Amino acid sequence: MSLPILNPELRLTTTPEPAMSEPLLRACCVTVSYGGKPAVRDVELEIARGRITAMIGPSGCGKSSFLASLNRLTDLIGGCTVSGAAMLDGRDLLAPDVDPVALRRRVGMIFQKPNPFAMSIRKNLEMPLKANGVRSAADRRDLAEAALRDVGLWDEVSDRLNHSALRLSGGQQQRLCIARAVVLRPRLLLLDEPCSALDPMATQRIEELLSELRGGCCGLDSTEEEPLTQVVVTHNLAQAKRVADDTAVFWVRDGCGVMIESGATQEVFENPREEETRRYVGGLQG
Ligand SMILES: Nc1ncnc2c1ncn2[C@@H]1O[C@H](COP(=O)(O)OP(=O)(O)OP(=O)(O)O)[C@@H](O)[C@H]1O
Ligand SMILES: [Mg+2]
Repeated sequence: MSLPILNPELRLTTTPEPAMSEPLLRACCVTVSYGGKPAVRDVELEIARGRITAMIGPSGCGKSSFLASLNRLTDLIGGCTVSGAAMLDGRDLLAPDVDPVALRRRVGMIFQKPNPFAMSIRKNLEMPLKANGVRSAADRRDLAEAALRDVGLWDEVSDRLNHSALRLSGGQQQRLCIARAVVLRPRLLLLDEPCSALDPMATQRIEELLSELRGGCCGLDSTEEEPLTQVVVTHNLAQAKRVADDTAVFWVRDGCGVMIESGATQEVFENPREEETRRYVGGLQG
């Protein structure tokens, strides 16, 4: 379903859609620093359109820092600075004139710990729609239902939409958070260890959901339709193999995070270029 009312100010660009073979996002020399000290440096990475990219690597190698820069959450961290460029639809999302609030509508973020708003299930979805210009209550209700169906929650919660979202299980809360992001039809969904606080069953459900959303449409209106692109940070290598088309490996070299290799997941796991990757995916280090 498309958003019936589109606030033109929320669009990053009005240029025609590029071909599917063009990457959705191209990070060029992205460095994230805290207090002037680089945590992850010079990341060069292309995120393929409509696919799922995993980011893997040991703790502290800058996966979360890099991910957070892509929807400008890094703006909110005191002492954090980001340099380089991250081209999304031909525009640098790191540029100072990009409105981070509008950007976050196009680039959603899901965290390790589900963070639904302390309000009803219904309001968790309808509030962002209202804030983004969907004025009709009937449209908001329909779009909320569609998002709950998208994440497979509708049958589980349709009889208690007015109950607090905090009464849902952890796995249901995480799916609600994904619904809250996809209800705005983002171009890109960033997920930072979305399953690490969940049990194996809930984890499996989220993995299935990511695969289902993979073919989903993120069109904001009838002229702009393309499948959702997802980036998922995970420590679970089996999960990366199961869900990701592409994988980027981060490492710490000389005390700083770097992206050491990326490519098709099967290639990265079965025929890695870097010795660190070989040891890491072989379970010897990390
Ligand atoms: N808010 C912050 N202030 C200062 N340093 C930070 C901050 N957040 C992260 N760092 C540092 O940046 C580096 C990269 O951290 P980051 O959290 O991005 O790594 P990560 O790969 O996501 O690790 P993990 O797998 O443990 O989540 C680490 O050295 C960390 O201590
Ligand atoms: Mg992290």
